[in-house]
Order: sequence, then C-alpha cells, then structure tokens
Amino acid sequence: MTDAILVVGGAGYVGSHACKALDQAGFLPVTYDDLSTGFASAVRWGPLVEGRMSDSARLQAAIAEYKPVAAMLFAGSIAVGESVADPSKYYRNNVGGILALLEVFRAKDLNRLVFSSTAAVYGEPQSVPIHEDHPLRPTNPYGWTKLIIEQVLSDYANAYGLRSTSLRYFNAAGGDPDGNIGENHDPETHLIPLVLDTALGKRAQIDVFGDDYDTPDGTCVRDYIHVDDLASAHILALRRIIATQEGGAEAFNLGNGNGFSVREVIEAAQSVTGKEIPTRMAPRRAGDPAILISSAERAREVLDWKPQRANLETQIADAWKWRQNL
Ligand SMILES: NC(=O)c1ccc[n+]([C@@H]2O[C@H](COP(=O)([O-])OP(=O)(O)OC[C@H]3O[C@@H](n4cnc5c(N)ncnc54)[C@H](O)[C@@H]3O)[C@@H](O)[C@H]2O)c1
Repeated sequence: MTDAILVVGGAGYVGSHACKALDQAGFLPVTYDDLSTGFASAVRWGPLVEGRMSDSARLQAAIAEYKPVAAMLFAGSIAVGESVADPSKYYRNNVGGILALLEVFRAKDLNRLVFSSTAAVYGEPQSVPIHEDHPLRPTNPYGWTKLIIEQVLSDYANAYGLRSTSLRYFNAAGGDPDGNIGENHDPETHLIPLVLDTALGKRAQIDVFGDDYDTPDGTCVRDYIHVDDLASAHILALRRIIATQEGGAEAFNLGNGNGFSVREVIEAAQSVTGKEIPTRMAPRRAGDPAILISSAERAREVLDWKPQRANLETQIADAWKWRQNL
C-alpha cells in the first residue's frame, strides 16, 4: 500500500512542489490547507482536505481517514515585514497553530515530521557561510516563531519521542520546470518574482533597497535555492525519519553556498527574459543583513542531498515560465 504523507500547507509554493516530489517518490501526498495563501489548483498529486491547523476536529478526521505515516509542515505566515507590523498574527498562526496541530499528532501517534524553518533563525550573521551551529538570534518575529517551534520540536523529542527534521531554507526560488506550479504570493515580497513582474510591465520598476552595503556592488547578497531542490531535501529527510523508531530533532541548512547580489539577479533576469528591467534606488530596509550565504555541507553529508538547479539563470528561467502565465 502507498504510504500517505500529511502535507500541511501543501497548496502553497514550496508545499505544492514537495507534493509533486512525494508522488514521484511513491508516496501519497495528502494536503491539509486552509487556502489562506495557497491554491486548490496547485494540489494535483493527491487529495486536498481544507482546514486550519487550529481546527483539531478536522485535522483528526483527516488523519483517521488517510493514516499518514509522517507529516510535512509548510503552513505558516511568511512575510518578515508583516511580522514586525503584526506579530500577533505570526505568533498565533506559526506558533499557536503548530502547537494545536502537534497536540492532535500526539493524540494520533503521528510522531514523524519535517518542518519548514528558515535562515531567519540566525539573524544578523556573525560569519559567512552560515553553519547550523551559528548563534540563533532572530531579528524579527517571523524568525522567532520558527526558532520557537524548533525548540518545541526538540523538547517534544526528549519528552514524547517525536522525531523531526527542521529544514532551514535560504531564499527559495524557481518553479516547476514544467511550468504548472510556481510562486504566487500576494502581496509578493520576494525579489525574483518582483523582478519578473517588472519585466512583464506589471510593475513600473524594481526598488533596490540600499546600494551602500559592504558587498562587491553595494547591494544585498542572498543564497537562492531552487524549490525543486528544497523538495528533494524534504524527501531525503522524510526517508531518514521514517527509517528510525527513535525520537530526535535535527536541523539542516538548505542553500547553494553561493551568493548573488540584487544587481546580479536583475542582470540575470534581463538576460533570461530579454527585457529591460528599470530599477529605482530606495533606502535600506531595517533588519536586512548585507550577506546571507549558507553552508549546507551537513545536508549534503548526512542526507546525501545534491541540489540539481543551483544555476541562477536556470532558477529565473523556471520562474519566468510560470510567471508569464499567471
Ligand atoms: N518561500 C521562501 O523563500 C521561504 C524561505 C524560508 C522558509 N520558508 C517557509 O516555508 C514554508 C512555505 O513557504 P511558502 O513560500 O510555500 O508559503 P505559502 O504562503 O505559499 O504556503 C503556505 C501554505 O500554508 C497554508 N496555511 C497558512 N496558514 C495555515 C493554517 N493556519 N492552516 C492551514 N494552512 C495554512 C497557506 O494557505 C499556504 O497554502 C513557510 O513555513 C515558510 O516560512 C519559505
């Protein structure tokens, strides 16, 4: 029988790509999602159960029906700036929602999960590349909500035998190379989709927030990781937690270990799309570190993870395929 995996937030950007990868790996992805920022049309590889993380009765019914052997937790609120303006939303959804969900999991003996964490748990980097043992000092409520859940998972491992893997993504990028699913946030805050919308003429220009950082061209440098490479890491992490009966909590960075500046991203997008992309200088945004680059050696060694789409142009080309048809 095909093992079912409960994919909480499977109708969203990263979750929908993970569902496709789960299907290809021989699992049945069962999406549990309230469609607050996700789309029913992105749920193509298994059933959709519409529900909130905090709706314990609905969640229990979904688990009783599909009997998942493990879960992936993508659901959450994801915009850093909004988390500063409205932290209550973030603590309620990203902490409160997941605590409620973990109670149901405990009651139902669902004790293996892969959690979407973030590079934002590190805060301002003291050294780059950033390794997993770098100090954890988030600089915004979004990052704190993820770090709090990582701590909860570790405490639940010790007390209740929960087995979890937290995957700390750097900047997710790209889309399904087939062009059927991709990034669709509203409002969009991520650089590549904003740059592509500018190429499409949906935006007059792209704002460059600061060009006086201590980086080669003065603009911020980030580590972009293709969403399909995130998905493949989820499958490897899942296989690892399914293979053991023991509790435990692990964390891995997911990135390419390469940094690209805002200007380099815009130039690459101009070359991929063949369009002029107007820019406008804007002041620095509070809390934007100059450089965020991962070391993902641990994921490569322990999970045997091999990202396939590290090339920035490839990532932008995949996003472009999707973006033009949005
Ligand atoms: N996109 C990135 O660059 C990035 C980087 C680091 C970490 N992450 C993390 O990865 C995860 C997925 O990000 P994404 O870009 O796919 O976001 P997304 O908004 O596209 O997907 C989130 C999904 O969760 C659902 N959801 C939200 N709250 C819910 C709730 N209370 N109950 C049920 N469903 C709920 C939404 O409807 C949506 O389908 C998030 O946890 C995010 O913090 C993303």
